[in-house]
Amino acid sequence: MKARKPIVIANWKLNGGLDLICTSVASFIGKHFDAQIAICPPYLYMRDMMTFLQFSELQIGSQNVSRYESGAYTGETSAQMLKQAGCSLCLIGHSERRAMFNENNEGCQIKVRTALNSGLLPVLCVGENQTEREANITEEVLYKQLSEGLANIELNGRDLCVAYEPVWAIGTGLAATPSMAQEVHQFIRAELTKIFDAESAARVRILYGGSVNKTNTRDLLAQQDIDGLLVGGASLDPGHFLAICEQA
Ligand code: G3P
Repeated sequence: MKARKPIVIANWKLNGGLDLICTSVASFIGKHFDAQIAICPPYLYMRDMMTFLQFSELQIGSQNVSRYESGAYTGETSAQMLKQAGCSLCLIGHSERRAMFNENNEGCQIKVRTALNSGLLPVLCVGENQTEREANITEEVLYKQLSEGLANIELNGRDLCVAYEPVWAIGTGLAATPSMAQEVHQFIRAELTKIFDAESAARVRILYGGSVNKTNTRDLLAQQDIDGLLVGGASLDPGHFLAICEQA
């Protein structure tokens, strides 16, 4: 049994519909899991899903959160609103948001702070792209994402997750091997020790994401510093996602 409670998060991205909500929720009703399990659906579906969740251990997360608390920010949803609606956690700085919506480390840092202050569990996403891996600068990229994304954050006993998602593994079917992922997770944990302190860093759960499926789940989670999984494509098949969660 791991000291850190495993966590499995489904990121539906811009996918899903009422059918998927019903079949997903139905798969989880009455089931017990050793891991913390959450689904991040599109915003519009959150409330629909929550009405069913009193019958299951599933939690709802958000794929994003505003850096602002309130005011004239058209199209935004604040951490406090998400918390009040019943969300447990939020993804921050997913590579798709960094690449397509100009999110940067400074913005991520503000979002992490806002999430913590609102009682949401922040899941800060980091990871190198193919070019950066080939140029052998994975550690430099991660160092920058972590040191800037978590600058001046004080945990004070509050939980934080970091999701390592190598961009080259997302949606490609080319997952990092368990040992490759463990090596990076170990590096991330060492950086977290410098940013916070050894005790706080040891509490942070580090998730792996990128072509996770029911076949590679067990080997990935067997690694010492892999505390959870962030699942994209495979989470859109409720039976497949359930099989992943049952192994965690
Ligand atoms: O956030 C999860 C995601 O980016 C990984 O996607 O489809 O490779 O599991 P996928």
